[in-house]
Amino acid sequence: MACYVRLMHRGDVAQVTEIDREAFPTLSPPVNYGRELENRLAHYIVACDEGERVEESEVEVSLEKDPQGLGSRVRRLFSYNRFFGQELPKSGKQYITGFAGFWIMAGEAHITSIAVREFRRRQGVGELLLISVINLATELNAHFITLEVRVSNTAAQSLYYKYGFTQAGLRHNYYIEDREDAVIMSTENTTSAPFQAHFQQLKQAHSRKWGIALYQIAR
Ligand SMILES: CC(C)(COP(=O)(O)OP(=O)(O)OC[C@H]1O[C@@H](n2cnc3c(N)ncnc32)[C@H](O)[C@@H]1OP(=O)(O)O)[C@@H](O)C(=O)NCCC(=O)NCCS
Repeated sequence: MACYVRLMHRGDVAQVTEIDREAFPTLSPPVNYGRELENRLAHYIVACDEGERVEESEVEVSLEKDPQGLGSRVRRLFSYNRFFGQELPKSGKQYITGFAGFWIMAGEAHITSIAVREFRRRQGVGELLLISVINLATELNAHFITLEVRVSNTAAQSLYYKYGFTQAGLRHNYYIEDREDAVIMSTENTTSAPFQAHFQQLKQAHSRKWGIALYQIAR
């Protein structure tokens, strides 16, 4: 199934929350993604299956009903609302398979979450989201990317290692729920020639493997 990435809209909150709960069931309190969308430091993207749709009833608030919200802010910021030459697909109708978010602070992007629906893992979606985070953060002039990951989360760590993140330290007892330690991982400057060479290679390999033609983020 072909996949694409776009910015998260208000109408996606229900699906994103569902994915978050499945991926991080012990996180308490759960993240309020509706509020996160109002956070000017935060940037969220979703991966959608092309062609798949969810029922209208699952959509909480549509972009059209939120003229002063994220949709209009995003449109102002990027000054267009077209996607691959077509109108922006209606918010909340696509089937979301994963999402990622980061905050930009002091010129650095801090990944706050990245998660893929369990049944869609190991099919390149996590990688697609990470590629998009790197692209978007770089576009927004955040040239270093950092995150915390559980010491036991070897799946996520190997995704980050693959993309050139290295271990920058440990935060002891970082997770309140069970006091597990976090590994701090970060990139070098994402605009540096070595990072970009490696990144472009990985993107090409991902594109060949999963048949993704465009890595552009739809607004
Ligand atoms: C981490 C996560 C987002 C990866 O998503 P995914 O769609 O399964 O990942 P992909 O299929 O794109 O895999 C890309 C790379 O990630 C690594 N990876 C993913 N799952 C892995 C696993 N189970 N074991 C080892 N490596 C794994 C590999 O390096 C893989 O590259 P490869 O295919 O060349 O081996 C997903 O496992 C997830 O949602 N986990 C729960 C939430 C979470 O822990 N998020 C991270 C918080 S810091």
